[in-house]
Amino acid sequence: MAVLGGACRLVQLVRCGSPVGLCLSSSLRRQSTATAAAFNTTATPETKESRKPKTGILMLNMGGPEKLEDVHDFLLRLFMDTDLMQLPVQNKLGPFIAKRRTPKIQEQYSKIGGGSPIKAWTTMQGEGMVKLLDEMCPDTAPHKFYIGFRYVHPLTEEAIELMEKDGVERAVAFTQYPQYSCSTTGSSLNAIYRYYSNRADRPKMRWSVIDRWPTHPLLIECFAEHVRNELDKFPVEKRDDVVILFSAHSLPLSVVNRGDPYPQEVGATVQRVMDRLGHCNPYRLVWQSKVGPMAWLGPQTDEVIKGLCQRGKRNLLLVPIAFTSDHIETLHELDIEYSQVLGEEVGVENIRRAESLNGNPLFFRALADLVQSHLQSNESCSRQLTLRCPLCVNPTCAQTKAFFSSQKL
Ligand code: FES
Repeated sequence: MAVLGGACRLVQLVRCGSPVGLCLSSSLRRQSTATAAAFNTTATPETKESRKPKTGILMLNMGGPEKLEDVHDFLLRLFMDTDLMQLPVQNKLGPFIAKRRTPKIQEQYSKIGGGSPIKAWTTMQGEGMVKLLDEMCPDTAPHKFYIGFRYVHPLTEEAIELMEKDGVERAVAFTQYPQYSCSTTGSSLNAIYRYYSNRADRPKMRWSVIDRWPTHPLLIECFAEHVRNELDKFPVEKRDDVVILFSAHSLPLSVVNRGDPYPQEVGATVQRVMDRLGHCNPYRLVWQSKVGPMAWLGPQTDEVIKGLCQRGKRNLLLVPIAFTSDHIETLHELDIEYSQVLGEEVGVENIRRAESLNGNPLFFRALADLVQSHLQSNESCSRQLTLRCPLCVNPTCAQTKAFFSSQKL
């Protein structure tokens, strides 16, 4: 997810590039299985891919390798993504780094079960969303979800091709990152623009985009619910003493300083969640996954854990706030590296991590509500999407913004 440049940043990219590399079983162990399973079994045949859709919802995300043999191609696409990073002689250096890094990343994946859970979670969320949408919005039904990953199959381009083939009339590009960054959602939207710019045909579908949703009320409610659930697991006498640490993936300051909106939008999510919780506990927004000597947005999650413990604050609740499904930064970095290893080292008393939104049916409702409101608004994108970062040097950003804002709905 992070945009990096320079050798020291490459290590980070590999970490960033494998955020969803945890085993499905690890991921699913944190799932509220009863509710999600019940939801799944109630899916009607009308929600299956076989039906002819009127409205197609393209769920955008970076994706992660499902199997060890997918790791190389995943890394190759990641290192070749010029929206994510610019390398010298990228068409040579990108493949070189991908090849060199593959064994190490495969080892990491094998340690966590050998595959990424992101496709499974996205599928469950998409099914839940379209089932609700068909009930809520008969005028735009049938709805069908498509998954468009940036670095693994199904790729964004493959999903668009399928949507065109399916005869979708109205297409919604729906980012699965609640907070916008040019290195995540921006990269996926640029991929959609490039798909059409490389062809003579104009899109047959009418396109619009849900480009950010950091303060959607149901998203906030989901996060608040998961924080409450986890707070309740602390010993009663310690509960008031718990410090809530909202942890998001950091960005190099070079990205922040060109005007990327991500830090502000993550802050907005945190503020709304704490408002919803009635400011029940002290809290901080902290940033994880920094690697290398370059300056990154801080304070860093691990340093904060250490600093708080040194100051006698030893009851901590970690809340992943910038991804909606489990990934390596939750299941490995937060749960193992920070909660277990670091926690023991610095003497935490109680440290817990709020469950990711994963299969929460309220989250399916949030997704459906976002699409419904978007379709009713008849707007092709948010006003915020029309503004380039003030120091952007990527010409595709301008073309992508023009593509989406000029769609006739
Ligand atoms: S990098 Fe933000 S608009 Fe181009």
